[in-house]
Amino acid sequence: MFIFQAAAPGTSIIRRDLGAEPLPQTEALYAVALASPATLAAPPMGSLNLSEALIREVEAADVIVIGTPMHNLTIPSVLKAWIDQILRVGRTMKSTPSGKVGMLRDRPVYIGVASGGFFTGERANQPDFLTPYLSLALSSIGLKTQQFLTLQGPPHWIGARHR
Ligand SMILES: Cc1cc2nc3c(=O)[nH]c(=O)nc-3n(C[C@H](O)[C@H](O)[C@H](O)COP(=O)(O)O)c2cc1C
Repeated sequence: MFIFQAAAPGTSIIRRDLGAEPLPQTEALYAVALASPATLAAPPMGSLNLSEALIREVEAADVIVIGTPMHNLTIPSVLKAWIDQILRVGRTMKSTPSGKVGMLRDRPVYIGVASGGFFTGERANQPDFLTPYLSLALSSIGLKTQQFLTLQGPPHWIGARHR
């Protein structure tokens, strides 16, 4: 983050700490709002407010940086709650017979992944459901320019951490 500000003084940063301030899980009204073309056209009052605010944050960004741990082989639930709000048919992606088509302008997304064990390389001791899932979720709304950086292994591996 600070590198961006050093490289481009005046850059403004919106920081969303999903661990410190978790988003609510999607609720029934939100599911209803997404359920049919009719409700998409006239969603239940207020049901999409949070989703809309989060999508606008993404739309306003030139660069997106995501830092996440691996939890039980995939993303933590707090990050999944964010994804559930920003992947929206009719708003950030189209559902077509050949699959989802992203509606957002592409921009660079840097994703840092920390894990207590290893999921790539010679020491890999677990499958990786995080990077394929997160990559597909982001590209499905149009965010296709992605760079994953990993910090794998327990703290005593520092210095020999797999990058
Ligand atoms: C609930 C929970 C589940 C976790 N699941 C995994 C896992 O499946 N694989 C893994 O490598 N690390 C797992 N970890 C370890 C975290 O990824 C690791 O603690 C986190 O990336 C922070 O890294 P650090 O402790 O080295 O700072 C888990 C941690 C927690 C709290």
